[in-house]
Amino acid sequence: MSFTVNTLRNVTTACQQMRDHIKTIVFRPDAHKTLDITFGPTVAAELIGRTPEALAKAEAKGRLPQPKQLPNGRRFYTLEDLTQIREALGIHVGKQPDEDAVVLAVQNFKGGVGKSTITKHLADYLALHGYRVLVIDCDPQASTTTMFDIQPETLIDDDQTLGAFLSPRSTFSNFAETIRDTPWPTIKIVPSSLGLQDAEWDLTSTLREGGQAVRESLQALRIGIASVTKDFDVILLDPPPAMGFLGLNVMAAATGLLIPVPARQLDYLSTIHFMDTIADNIEILEQNGTPVNYGFIRVVCSTFSPSKPGENDMWRIMQATYAGLLLGQPILASEEIKNATQAFRSIYESKPSASHQTYTRCRDNLDAVFGEVEQQIRQQWSSTSLTGTDAGVSVAA
Ligand SMILES: Nc1ncnc2c1ncn2[C@@H]1O[C@H](COP(=O)(O)OP(=O)(O)O)[C@@H](O)[C@H]1O
Ligand SMILES: [Mg+2]
Repeated sequence: MSFTVNTLRNVTTACQQMRDHIKTIVFRPDAHKTLDITFGPTVAAELIGRTPEALAKAEAKGRLPQPKQLPNGRRFYTLEDLTQIREALGIHVGKQPDEDAVVLAVQNFKGGVGKSTITKHLADYLALHGYRVLVIDCDPQASTTTMFDIQPETLIDDDQTLGAFLSPRSTFSNFAETIRDTPWPTIKIVPSSLGLQDAEWDLTSTLREGGQAVRESLQALRIGIASVTKDFDVILLDPPPAMGFLGLNVMAAATGLLIPVPARQLDYLSTIHFMDTIADNIEILEQNGTPVNYGFIRVVCSTFSPSKPGENDMWRIMQATYAGLLLGQPILASEEIKNATQAFRSIYESKPSASHQTYTRCRDNLDAVFGEVEQQIRQQWSSTSLTGTDAGVSVAA
């Protein structure tokens, strides 16, 4: 064995040992995340789109159960309470039963631009606001899966995975069976699995047959999603890092694109290439009998540090270049987000890691950005598209 190969093999062995060790620490079977999220009356009222006074009045009149109380007498609500309150008051924020879910791909071929961070935080934001969400992790790196407390390693021996569903070699064809629960009552996930990489090979190998086989390989995810699209309001896709057949599947299945671009020179330049590649790939899909028509495409500045002069320039350049496509608010670079994601959580699930003020600023910023995305999503359903933010909420009681 050559010195180089030997060295690489040694590193691999060391990495595997370290991975196994980390797994025993981080992924203890008893270390499952339990959601410990509660809200005071003001936040609860805001999340259901009512005033705190209206909430208190409905409770006093017995239309709503009395809220839980801390020993100090402060009232609080859980996620389940919010769902029950919406039901009791006839508040329905999502689509109508006959409408389809909005399938939003958080798409960019570069790694480290914030795709998984945005997917996780947007899922949590939408769930907090009353939407039913399905997250599909198409990235073999599985960071989003891990943030929803599923260890991809546990799926190795499981046939009911996304990889098995997509692979033309497999006989497994019930997409709904790939869907798992998460700690969030209204978020489900199709986890990434180690077999996704194999699925990519299997899908690509249909190129030899051409024609119908290729078309089926490009539409596999779209067909799977079609079987569950009435059951969710929003389906979020975290795509693979490179554009192959998996990536094309994501593009074919999506009905809207959210493109994260950090306010860094290099990422901005690579995005120009990315836009071209997107257009090329849409043409490939069209040529193979799989036309796509996105309801919306939006660019979101995914990390912005206003104190860095270079980034201010970049933000202005992005505003000029992307014009109508760019979300009005950038996502600020924040230690809160970094710390939360390192602990496999979103900031919606975690307590302030520094000052309460920093945490609130970070959360308000994300709420503002995702509020814009929420508007785009609502525009896609005819039941909510013409009526604006709150008028779209149908109230029966
Ligand atoms: N707004 C932000 N502020 C601070 N750190 C961020 C922010 N967005 C993402 N990050 C960090 O950047 C890294 C890469 O993000 P990630 O979402 O994994 O990118 P991708 O999925 O595109 O590879 C992660 O460590 C994440 O914590
Ligand atoms: Mg990622």
